[in-house]
Amino acid sequence: MKINENYKNLNESYLFSTISSKVMEFLANNPDRELIRLGIGDVTRPLTKSTVEALASASCAMGTQEDFHGYGPEQGYSFLREKIKEYYLKNGANLRIDEIFVSDGAKSDLGNILDIFSTDNLVLIPNPVYPVYVDTNIMAGRRIMFLDANQQNNFLPLPDENLKADIVYLCSPNNPTGAAYSRDDLEKWVNWAIKNEAVILFDAAYECFISDKNLPKSIFEIEGAKKCAIEFCSLSKMAGFTGTRLGYTVVPTALSFDNMSLNKMWLRRQTTKFNGVPYIIQKGAEAVFTPQGQREILENINYYKINAKVIADTMADNNIWHTGGIHSPYIWFKCPNGMQSWEFFDYMLNSIAVVGTPGIGFGSNGEGFFRLTAFGTYEKTVEAMKRFNGMLRNM
Ligand code: MLT
Repeated sequence: MKINENYKNLNESYLFSTISSKVMEFLANNPDRELIRLGIGDVTRPLTKSTVEALASASCAMGTQEDFHGYGPEQGYSFLREKIKEYYLKNGANLRIDEIFVSDGAKSDLGNILDIFSTDNLVLIPNPVYPVYVDTNIMAGRRIMFLDANQQNNFLPLPDENLKADIVYLCSPNNPTGAAYSRDDLEKWVNWAIKNEAVILFDAAYECFISDKNLPKSIFEIEGAKKCAIEFCSLSKMAGFTGTRLGYTVVPTALSFDNMSLNKMWLRRQTTKFNGVPYIIQKGAEAVFTPQGQREILENINYYKINAKVIADTMADNNIWHTGGIHSPYIWFKCPNGMQSWEFFDYMLNSIAVVGTPGIGFGSNGEGFFRLTAFGTYEKTVEAMKRFNGMLRNM
């Protein structure tokens, strides 16, 4: 028996597990301190009224002979896929129903999609970025090339004509930096991918935070993208589904390589390895896309945006270089006094009991940077920033 040797090349633990162990240790040693968590991007607002009603009514339906549902379609019920299609159409992206695959979240799909690609591909991953892209490729033993995202390019790297790769990951609005690509920038990426016969894996998990009509929410708003891109999205941040689990992936039917349709390959993969998202959860998700559901989630998104502004304003008032926080729930900033990321993590935790995420956890270019999330409650965000100001005064 031989294990997958590639696992030896991974860091010992996943970024957010490491943070959680450090926090547990801190709490064990400081049981009386009131901790504020602005680390992992987990939502705090409860599910909306429409969603809860739909979940409750679907749960009751499951207890009746007429409306009981067993296995559903692996790619999702059409009542939900129709709603997702309408949602995209509002932003000018015209999808076919059979291009939409409902799943239990973007994280799973971002890892699972690699099943349909050869391990021989050269993968291009921005640095820093959501660690799942890197780790899932290390697990499969693919060659990874990093693309520098830094202050000079506002953490939004672009391709140039010398750039060669087979698969590229883009995340916009970006996790962790909160920076969002413009339409022109995404056009450059789509043109590059078509020219190089590469595939873009586009993570749109934070699209709901975009309020500027000029910024694309989906890569499929860009002409030609259906020939070169797959998009991942989720209701986690949009509608508070981090614990309820529902996401979706769009694999265009026009996407084909080597005479093989990637859409058909993904369908084959999902029907073989996945049995679909529970009917009850899909009914809850359907309610998110109704006009009432959309109004309700917007209230929550706006709530988080106010928190984001509280954090971003604190950075600006203290002349700390930062990005994000406008079209994103994340604020990415330079650690004060030239500190390193983990050093600042420990310093902040010990001095003011506020948890954040060290930039280095997202890649080497994140060293010296730090991420705070706007997904906390308003009161705790304000309190955290009060403590932050006090900490700076004593540094
Ligand atoms: C994050 O904090 O980066 C996210 O919550 C991670 C995720 O969505 O899986």
